[in-house]
Amino acid sequence: MLLQEESHFGEISPMSVSRPRFLVLLFAIAALLSASAPAQTAAVGTALEAVTGSHPLPNGIDLQAGSATLRITALRDDIVRVRISPNGTLPEDASWAVLPEPRNKSVDVRPIEDSASVGFRTASLDVRVERNPLRLVIRDLAGNIISADAIGRPVNFQLGGFTVFKQMPSGEHYFGLGDKAGSFDRRQQAYTLWNTDVGPQESVDPLYKSIPFFLGISGARTYGIFLDNTWRTWFDFGKQARDAISFGSEGGPLDYYFLYGPTPKQVVESYAYLTGTPPLPPLWSLGFQQSRYSYTPESQVREIANRLRTDKIPSDVLYLDIDYQFKNRPFTVDPKTFPNFPALVSDLHKQHLHLVTITDLHIAHAPNQGYAPYDTGEAGNHFVKNPDGSQFVGVVWPGPAVFPDFTRAQTRDWWGGLYRQFVGDGVAGFWNDMNEPSVFSGPGMTMPLNNVHRIEEPGFATRTATHAEIHNIMGLENARATYEGLLKLRPDERPFVLTRATYAGGQRYGFTWTGDNSATWNHLRLATQMVLNLGVSGISMVGADVGGFGSSPAPDLLTRWVELAAFSPLCRDHAAKGTLPHEVWAHGPQHEAIRRRYIETRYRLLPYIYSLADEASRTGLPIMRPVFLEFPEVFAPSSGNFDHLDTEFLLGPSLLIAPPPFAETMDDYAVSFPQGPWYDFWTGLKMPAPPRVPSIAELASGAAYPEIPQIHPPLDTMPVYVRGGSILPLQPLIQNTDEIPNGPLELHVYPGPQCSGSLYLDDGHTFRYQHGEYLRQTFTCQPDANSVRVTFSARQGTYVPWWKSVEVVIYDWPSARAEVKLSTSASPLKTSYDAKKHSLHVTLPDVPGEAEISIGGR
Ligand code: NOJ
Repeated sequence: MLLQEESHFGEISPMSVSRPRFLVLLFAIAALLSASAPAQTAAVGTALEAVTGSHPLPNGIDLQAGSATLRITALRDDIVRVRISPNGTLPEDASWAVLPEPRNKSVDVRPIEDSASVGFRTASLDVRVERNPLRLVIRDLAGNIISADAIGRPVNFQLGGFTVFKQMPSGEHYFGLGDKAGSFDRRQQAYTLWNTDVGPQESVDPLYKSIPFFLGISGARTYGIFLDNTWRTWFDFGKQARDAISFGSEGGPLDYYFLYGPTPKQVVESYAYLTGTPPLPPLWSLGFQQSRYSYTPESQVREIANRLRTDKIPSDVLYLDIDYQFKNRPFTVDPKTFPNFPALVSDLHKQHLHLVTITDLHIAHAPNQGYAPYDTGEAGNHFVKNPDGSQFVGVVWPGPAVFPDFTRAQTRDWWGGLYRQFVGDGVAGFWNDMNEPSVFSGPGMTMPLNNVHRIEEPGFATRTATHAEIHNIMGLENARATYEGLLKLRPDERPFVLTRATYAGGQRYGFTWTGDNSATWNHLRLATQMVLNLGVSGISMVGADVGGFGSSPAPDLLTRWVELAAFSPLCRDHAAKGTLPHEVWAHGPQHEAIRRRYIETRYRLLPYIYSLADEASRTGLPIMRPVFLEFPEVFAPSSGNFDHLDTEFLLGPSLLIAPPPFAETMDDYAVSFPQGPWYDFWTGLKMPAPPRVPSIAELASGAAYPEIPQIHPPLDTMPVYVRGGSILPLQPLIQNTDEIPNGPLELHVYPGPQCSGSLYLDDGHTFRYQHGEYLRQTFTCQPDANSVRVTFSARQGTYVPWWKSVEVVIYDWPSARAEVKLSTSASPLKTSYDAKKHSLHVTLPDVPGEAEISIGGR
């Protein structure tokens, strides 16, 4: 019986399934159940009309509005927390997303009270609640309103949920909310946050992740709002009411944080302060990754590994998708197709390929079959329950399956231990898929909302919770269990965990990807938008399946995709079952050569990319950045229209990638350049300053629209530009990150304003960097009419680098004539000149301490 069920459901794929009618029926039943699922009890229809009482607190204020209670507190001068309850008691103060330390922080505030309002001031904000009608209005100290409750739309509580309305000024733009597709700017859109396994994403909502955080940006000021609520939530940016933002939830606490910039970077960093930064990843995870659903049998895995090496495609990672498992059961290996798994892992290691295996959360419901994950999970009472207390069984890849109750610390601990064997075999990283959770037998492709979870967790009251409350954090807590389990099993190795579903704070456990995209040009565009919005939602370590997961990419599409993904944080080629080969060598040697060159470029740039990963781990700033993050003035009313905000992006602060917005068409396009100067990364040449585009006001008063140069890059060219004022660290080409680069460290100096760069390095995989074994160095340059001076700061940390010499490359240098002096040595330095690139190359011995080279005689 069991076997029959398994083979039947084993054929279901979320991409290909035309869902049987009974699933639809189950979905309908579940919808009915969910309507009656217990939510937070609240008076029906409470609206916060007027302040009826208030009480100052050292760090904020308590207010009453009829039966409702509000507590508004300042965690920092620029972070305010708002908690509102429809009755006299605030809900439990606990969070899956916000770290305990910031949550318990507070600053002293100065109370404000007058006849019209009551509130407080911090060193940067004026926070007032207007008494009647009740309205929260937050200003900066110059009196500019940053965020205000909408007039005539009070906060209201209904049917266990709530809605908050804020004014939506014209000219404000909205970003964040994680992986939402459809529109880069969230203005005039509405979204639901409910982790969902769903195929082709274009206009589909909700998707896999729930990150209830957005940034509101106008030219001069940025703020963020983070609604810390794990239930099904929604955000509307002027879709329903043209001048209001609204957000709400169907249950759970009304608990949100207001984060003030004024710059978008400050808001993103403050969000990371609250919810955490990504850990420093292993260096190999930033290399090229090859995956497929599924490489099987073992011989095919070896073929792919060999081909990567013989074709000299720099690469670091191979994946095994579900078919390596025995009957799709997590934590097993099919002995027929992978008869000698440990030997395979070890052979791949010899080829410097790290193996990542999929380990989905659904444990096969296989009692009395010697399947340890089920037996031990059952014995430890680790699975989610039906309302009647029995084990919930739903159908996923293994057929009937059970689901770990990850909101129990003990269950996470047990789950982490399941990796012991794979870790012992040398598997390098793990992939947690389907953890929305996806349940083919539904309802709604997940489990019933009245399923019962248990919260047994430090910092939380021990209690049961419905799936309606826990659903959106299943992926988060699954990834956490894996991450923390791996840390226990391999305490001195940085874990690599790739999860599909997550919630706010998910960045703390590593990587994610954008799920099941398709091999279409539109999905290539979406990849950029989704990764950018995830980046400003705290999730730095992310990428989209290169080439598109579903269907087979046309050769040009795959080539363009590799060109783009070479500059994204996670660069993983992955494809669905039944699609044509998708590896970089598919489509012949010409395409392969182009793709190889871009992957090689990524490997040459690894010192820069790894330094960005270090920055992300310290600050939360994403590796792949929307242009507005570095140049918020693109939204200033005085700035001309900045096109292509949704297709252009920055890799760190310095590289601007400007893909053809519609590469599938014959159209030329104009690159939009933020404030420059800019250099062409490929030719090294300084770009002529683009004509200034008049502002709307100037156009209205008759200014002419200038002629803007258009480009039409050939297939082998992805336009990439370097911001003048950057110093980029590069390394000689390597084929994998185990290889020690042979040659000097290169510092490419692109003169311009505030010229600087930095470099971070360590052993790439252990935690020794936390004990001083790292290298951090910053560089600056001062260009003037005749010379360029490059300064090296003294290095921090004890890590000994691989290079013995440094090659400094100065761009925009007019001739081979140069007088070069190094402050720490009188010996003459070797120079050479690249006339095509207008670049002067100076080779010097390694510079560990403070030093300066001056290059004169221009
Ligand atoms: C769904 C995932 O999104 C996809 O990447 C994976 O290949 C399949 N599940 C099979 O595991």
